[in-house]
Amino acid sequence: MTFHIRDALHDDLPAIRDIYNDAVLNTTAIWNEQAVDLDNRQAWFVARQSQGYPVLVIVDAHNTVLGYASFGDWRPFDGFRHTVEHSVYVRSDQRGHGLGPRLMDVLIERARDCGKHVMVAAIESGNAASIRLHERAGFVITGQMPQVGTKFGRWLDLTFMQLTLDPGAQPPVFHKE
Ligand SMILES: CC(C)(COP(=O)(O)OP(=O)(O)OC[C@H]1O[C@@H](n2cnc3c(N)ncnc32)[C@H](O)[C@@H]1OP(=O)(O)O)[C@@H](O)C(=O)NCCC(=O)NCCS
Repeated sequence: MTFHIRDALHDDLPAIRDIYNDAVLNTTAIWNEQAVDLDNRQAWFVARQSQGYPVLVIVDAHNTVLGYASFGDWRPFDGFRHTVEHSVYVRSDQRGHGLGPRLMDVLIERARDCGKHVMVAAIESGNAASIRLHERAGFVITGQMPQVGTKFGRWLDLTFMQLTLDPGAQPPVFHKE
């Protein structure tokens, strides 16, 4: 099967919404319980574009979206501006075939292109596929937070993993106003 990774287009949003909603309704990958509509994904897409951040899709030879990946600011304070938090989702019937790793590799390059310093992944601690996905991309575990979430009637633990994109880089020069 031939796969291609490209920037998402507006026409890809229904497929992105469906992949997202499947994860909302059936997994602990994302800690929401309410499915979203197309307007919600449209607003998210526009926000990412306005920040200059990528939304990538992986498509097959028929241009069918099989997964997507993106990143956004990690925390909304100036000092965190060189750190992003990302998400990677593969359609449920396409998992286990290496699509997630391919998306991850391209997303990492795009974060470097944006001049970012660190990528953060916040992963439900039982999500072995995601933890392995990140390990193979060079991420290391830097935090464990027991029972900080809940879904499906149980507590969820959070594992933080991170990747330094430009090891040894100096922080930006500080100008006091
Ligand atoms: C996590 C996800 C993106 C991974 O993408 P994928 O295309 O299915 O990834 P693959 O399974 O092909 O490859 C990931 C690695 O995890 C391994 N893996 C897969 N399932 C695993 C499991 N249950 N336990 C341990 N390792 C597992 C694979 O063998 C592979 O490792 P390898 O490269 O050493 O062979 C995908 O499963 C997904 O979309 N899950 C739901 C959403 C999600 O969890 N997103 C991440 C949120 S942080």
